[in-house]
Amino acid sequence: MDTMSYENILVDRPAEGVGRVQLNRPKALNALNSMLMDEVMHAMAAFNSDASIGAMILTGNDKAFAAGADIKEMDGKTQIDMLMSRSLIDRFDIQKLSKPVIAAVSGYALGGGCEVAMSCDMIVASETAVFGQPEINLGIIPGAGGTQRLTRAVGKALAMEIMLTDRKLGAQEALDYGLVNRVAPLDEYMDVAIAIAQKVARRSQVAIRLTKEAINKAYETSLEEGLALERRNFLIAFGSEDKAEGMRAFIEKRRAEWTHR
Ligand code: CAA
Repeated sequence: MDTMSYENILVDRPAEGVGRVQLNRPKALNALNSMLMDEVMHAMAAFNSDASIGAMILTGNDKAFAAGADIKEMDGKTQIDMLMSRSLIDRFDIQKLSKPVIAAVSGYALGGGCEVAMSCDMIVASETAVFGQPEINLGIIPGAGGTQRLTRAVGKALAMEIMLTDRKLGAQEALDYGLVNRVAPLDEYMDVAIAIAQKVARRSQVAIRLTKEAINKAYETSLEEGLALERRNFLIAFGSEDKAEGMRAFIEKRRAEWTHR
């Protein structure tokens, strides 16, 4: 699969060091089917291994980031189909990418759409963004991290209400509860996402990678183990050329020139 053959996404570089993947099934409100998710992961893996890229943006369009997993694709699937094949939800592994990913969300981020946004490292929302996990209406439950990531983000009480009653969160509420980093007007949210991505991309990729790994560990382990991983990554950073350059540049009162080594 090369970039020319993508059917469900658009890929570009909106600023130096920044790679962007745009979900592009507007007629289906960017519903996430297997092919689309394969394309997303293929494009993001390519950016992840591209030395000129320091951060990525995942976005949809103004009306929908993504209205969830593709219900029409899931409709015909049995339990055994989902178990035995590489199902849609096995494709949602954005968190495993070593470079930071910012979700730029406008309109619907529902079900798998909300889950994909939450598996990114930061979320920038337009004022029109709507977050929710409406799976309960379909007689299923969130299957790509919703019960875990949303609960960690907003707390148990609100997570229960969102997932048991299909309560939607508007952009400002999502900001208030800590689900998103920023809320901006519709015509500005992408610029905000790009500006944050550029700030990341201007840093040492070595230090960024070690920091992302350590922060993600905070969700998955005891404080003691998390501190041990932080200490390990801190020591790894001390072996980098970028550590030597960063400290020298500070002392010499100049901008650091990162080699990402
Ligand atoms: N899957 C497949 N198609 C979808 C879809 C989805 N999740 N969401 C929207 N679409 C399609 C609609 O079927 C419709 O297609 P047609 O024109 O061919 O009928 C088109 O997108 C436009 O949708 P609507 O006409 O419904 O647009 P609306 O503005 O009236 O409503 C909406 C918007 C409230 C988001 C509504 O589309 C909706 O409720 N969508 C489903 C949301 C949902 O339940 N998401 C969870 C899916 S399950 C999941 O994600 C599991 C998981 O955890 C991995």
